[in-house]
Amino acid sequence: MPLSGQHAFVTGGGRGIGRAIAAALARAGAAVTVIGRSEAPLRAAVAAGAAAGCAVADVTDAAALKRQVSAAEAARGPIAILVNNAGWVASGPFSKADASVFRSMWDVHVMGAVHATQAVLPGMIAAGFGRIVNVASIAGLKGYAYVSAYCAAKHALVGLTRALAAETAASGVTVNAVCPGYTDTDLVRESATRVAAKTGRTEADVLAEYRRDAPIGRLIQPEEVACKEVIEGEVRRRLRENFDVTLPRFDLMSQLYRAPKAMPLGELSQRMMVSNGNVTGLVDRLVEQGLINRRPSPKDRRAQLVSLTAEGRRFFRAMARANADWIADMLVDLSSEEIDTLMRLLAKTKASARKAIGNGGPR
Ligand SMILES: NC(=O)c1ccc[n+]([C@@H]2O[C@H](COP(=O)([O-])OP(=O)(O)OC[C@H]3O[C@@H](n4cnc5c(N)ncnc54)[C@H](OP(=O)(O)O)[C@@H]3O)[C@@H](O)[C@H]2O)c1
Repeated sequence: MPLSGQHAFVTGGGRGIGRAIAAALARAGAAVTVIGRSEAPLRAAVAAGAAAGCAVADVTDAAALKRQVSAAEAARGPIAILVNNAGWVASGPFSKADASVFRSMWDVHVMGAVHATQAVLPGMIAAGFGRIVNVASIAGLKGYAYVSAYCAAKHALVGLTRALAAETAASGVTVNAVCPGYTDTDLVRESATRVAAKTGRTEADVLAEYRRDAPIGRLIQPEEVACKEVIEGEVRRRLRENFDVTLPRFDLMSQLYRAPKAMPLGELSQRMMVSNGNVTGLVDRLVEQGLINRRPSPKDRRAQLVSLTAEGRRFFRAMARANADWIADMLVDLSSEEIDTLMRLLAKTKASARKAIGNGGPR
């Protein structure tokens, strides 16, 4: 099993998305620890096989969290995978959100991730390996009415993820965020109840509005968020082990492979939805490896054009073939109709997310 022998620590792992992530990691062979503030759902997760152990801790309490990280490591070994998922949503008009509302969102979404990360990162760096995944939200990329404090905190979590990914880039530790849309969990249902109570609408009405707002026309199931993480994690591992390539480098080469001519660096960074600085770092490495060319644009000497070299095209084709086999292998239990529907919905979701965050160009 791909994750056997690895200890994964999932905050808020007793319910909703966290529970689905814990179960998916456990199915992939990891020894999972789940934490949260209430004991019953955590114990239920252990009883159902979604986790090997659990502990009660509030992620806003740095000392308590550190104690539980040490206890979990004593029981199941050093933590190799951390999923910062714990959270809740405060909703209401901005004019009624006082400082305490903003602080509570900041404390759970940003400082919760900071405390857990600070407790595990030194061990990951010493081991030369670690995977940190922050469960942010589409509200970390786009603004939504009546959840200003939540949106502000989730945007900050995305910023923290980007900064930490840059800081740990050479250490073997990767830091990523997932940004789910409306997912069918207690969080969304409780939010719908609150909105219904405040606006005099029915809960069914509010949930219908959430569904309309979702690109796939329905709420996402928690298992779908977990599934993305597991498949992506496995692809990252296989790319690294078989080709010594990171997923961002593979993505960059795939953009260039499909482009009819050399691409300006700015366009490449827009297509990959990452900053110019991050793209420049990736390009530098690939130029050093002789896989891509970089030259000044004849139209504007300050702009850079990049394209794959002949060796780069050959190398990318080999990786793409292997990648297609790995994905086919991982989707073996789905019928071809189910795969078609999945791909169509993923493309629609991606186009909608790009439009929402202002990178609307076709890919
Ligand atoms: N549902 C969505 O539509 C959606 C969309 C995008 C992102 N997200 C994000 O996904 C994450 C999980 O949300 P969910 O929808 O799965 O919600 P959920 O079903 O309400 O689960 C939230 C989990 O977080 C735990 N938790 C909350 N505050 C905590 C704290 N201070 N310390 C430790 N644990 C805490 C809860 O356990 P206890 O209550 O026992 O502590 C629970 O296990 C959140 O960060 C949320 O913002 C959700």
